[in-house]
Amino acid sequence: MQARLITLEGIDGVGKTTHIAHLVGYLSAQDLPVTTYREPGATPLGEELRQILKHGPPRSPLAELLLFAAARAELVSSRVKPDLTAGTWVILDRFTESTLAYQGALGAIPEKVLRAVCKAATAGLVPDLTLWLDLEPQQAFSRRYPLAGVLDAQNGGAQAATELDAIEQRSLGYFTRVRERYLAMHEAEPERVLRIDASGSVEETAAKIRKAVTKKLKSWNKRD
Ligand SMILES: Nc1ncnc2c1ncn2[C@@H]1O[C@H](COP(=O)(O)OP(=O)(O)OP(=O)(O)O)[C@@H](O)[C@H]1O
Ligand SMILES: [Mg+2]
Repeated sequence: MQARLITLEGIDGVGKTTHIAHLVGYLSAQDLPVTTYREPGATPLGEELRQILKHGPPRSPLAELLLFAAARAELVSSRVKPDLTAGTWVILDRFTESTLAYQGALGAIPEKVLRAVCKAATAGLVPDLTLWLDLEPQQAFSRRYPLAGVLDAQNGGAQAATELDAIEQRSLGYFTRVRERYLAMHEAEPERVLRIDASGSVEETAAKIRKAVTKKLKSWNKRD
């Protein structure tokens, strides 16, 4: 079967990294060659840009967009495209949909510009399947910082907040808008951008992902 590009999306803490590990295991067990990369990162340039984006100086929305795009351009040209051509399946921890959701939710850059930059960065590469792990922002936050509520109660919430990077520090309202943007992408392309309810246990969500991917594998098998 032709190698496919699958991306995992969703707000911070929904479980993307956790479920990528499960998915890699699931595809490998079916003898499919598979590799995975995180965004931004996974290349020498991308990892440097990741540090700047997470912990670097303040930047304008446009500068932020272009830094993410630079990391992606490097990843696509040096890793993703060569892998797919060589027959290796690629699973990405975030891709174009993250830019449309996160930079879109800043509200400063027209959708047309966002899409044009993404298209240039990816040389038009669109994931075969995007799994959008959906969860309420508050629930996603408490998954990553299970003690944050307790710390707040003890008037020590600031301690949890200082561990957050530049994007994670944005407000709950921001993440609500990010989530709405993911929803709009799912509604626009319901077959390619699948919504996976991520509110259950790790095993429940992993089972939902396996079911969705199995269905896709069957349809791709027929097509090839
Ligand atoms: N379905 C689940 N139920 C409960 N806890 C979960 C579930 N999925 C993941 N977790 C836990 O939630 C935390 C966040 O998961 P993970 O790091 O995979 O999220 P992420 O989406 O990759 O986050 P980030 O955007 O920060 O990379 C981890 O501690 C993980 O073990
Ligand atoms: Mg992660």
